[in-house]
Amino acid sequence: MFDLIVKGGTLPDGRVADIGIRGDRIVEVGRIDAQAGFEIDATGDLVCPPFVDPHFHMDAVLSYGLPRVNASGTLLEGISLWGELREIATVEEMVARALRYCDWAVSRGLLAIRTHVDTTPDHLRGVEAMLEVKRQVAPYLDLQLVAFPQDGLYRSPTGRQNVLRALDMGVDVVGGIPHFERTMDEGAESLRDLGRIAAERGLMWDVHCDETDDPMSRHVETLAREVTRHGLGGRAAGSHLTSMHSMDNYYVSKLIPLIAESGMCAIPNPLINITLQGRHDTYPKRRGLTRVKELQAAGVTVGWGQDCVLDPWYSLGTADMLDVAFMGLHVAQMTHPAEMARCFDMVTTENARIMGLDQLCLRPGALASLVVLDAGNPVEALRLRPDRLAVISKGRIVARQARNDARLTLPGRPAAVRRRH
Ligand code: FE2
Repeated sequence: MFDLIVKGGTLPDGRVADIGIRGDRIVEVGRIDAQAGFEIDATGDLVCPPFVDPHFHMDAVLSYGLPRVNASGTLLEGISLWGELREIATVEEMVARALRYCDWAVSRGLLAIRTHVDTTPDHLRGVEAMLEVKRQVAPYLDLQLVAFPQDGLYRSPTGRQNVLRALDMGVDVVGGIPHFERTMDEGAESLRDLGRIAAERGLMWDVHCDETDDPMSRHVETLAREVTRHGLGGRAAGSHLTSMHSMDNYYVSKLIPLIAESGMCAIPNPLINITLQGRHDTYPKRRGLTRVKELQAAGVTVGWGQDCVLDPWYSLGTADMLDVAFMGLHVAQMTHPAEMARCFDMVTTENARIMGLDQLCLRPGALASLVVLDAGNPVEALRLRPDRLAVISKGRIVARQARNDARLTLPGRPAAVRRRH
């Protein structure tokens, strides 16, 4: 009756359950007495939906140091370095780097990624490479591509035309970067233009919006207005929104209800926002993370994105969404048990909702994609960022790892140390 049963795991909500899988679907969650062709004993382990990353740049991944490292650590030097690299990187190189990263992702239980693809250069080699990667990983990893005009929709001479070309080639989502256009006016116009394109083509829309420390940047407001105008709701997202960190509180008291009214989602990227923002400050130095708890309190769906791993903007990274949530938890000061549990949901089910992948959950009828972690519950998973003992994608086991306890050789002490309490 079942091809695979994951036995006795603890679900994120605390229930202990067996999960029965047939083909690529979960068919039963509860107490299962039947046998299966294959069983995984998850007794005492956390079993959760796969990790999902709604904001990444896979065309640049694993390129750290090419053509040289980012000496100032700023967003602008990163953009400039990437401008050089994208002209010399070949399709084959980009595909190879991306596939290596996808292997890391799968091993960490990260099974869906939304990646922004730079559409600035007329050669569109990045688009060609990412479409090929998407095709190759499709059996086990959902890759969603965003047409991202890195150098501006209008600021780059062929910016608009290349976004449309990329969408015609099969890129899934419309992007944008209003704060990088020449003026506030042109930034706002780019949002009106891109919102229309998304609505007319029936596509999702995800904008790098106000990734700046400028408290006067007002593109989030325009984005929310355009999402409301076209009724895009949760099919639209604002990425970063870091200007909101620095904005006047009175203005924010008007802005957050407008965001909530639009139904759009928010995607802060804590690893990168904490390192890139505030670089022009002396002290006190701003953190540069958007107002996560306040947005959530207003009913906005907020996810955590990774953004970068080993590239011109970020010199570290592991493809582990628990690292991302761990940093987000600290910077947003989400330390109450309920807030920590929310941080775990943000990198699993809430990120999945942002990407329109509601079938990534542990319910009968859902896709049989899940992760078994060496942790007892979501908060412990955040504390330990533990081994992924098994990763199942669409009914297939795609990664296994042995439990990895430390071995001590101290006289009078136990031989093994488990980090779990
Ligand atoms: Fe980004």
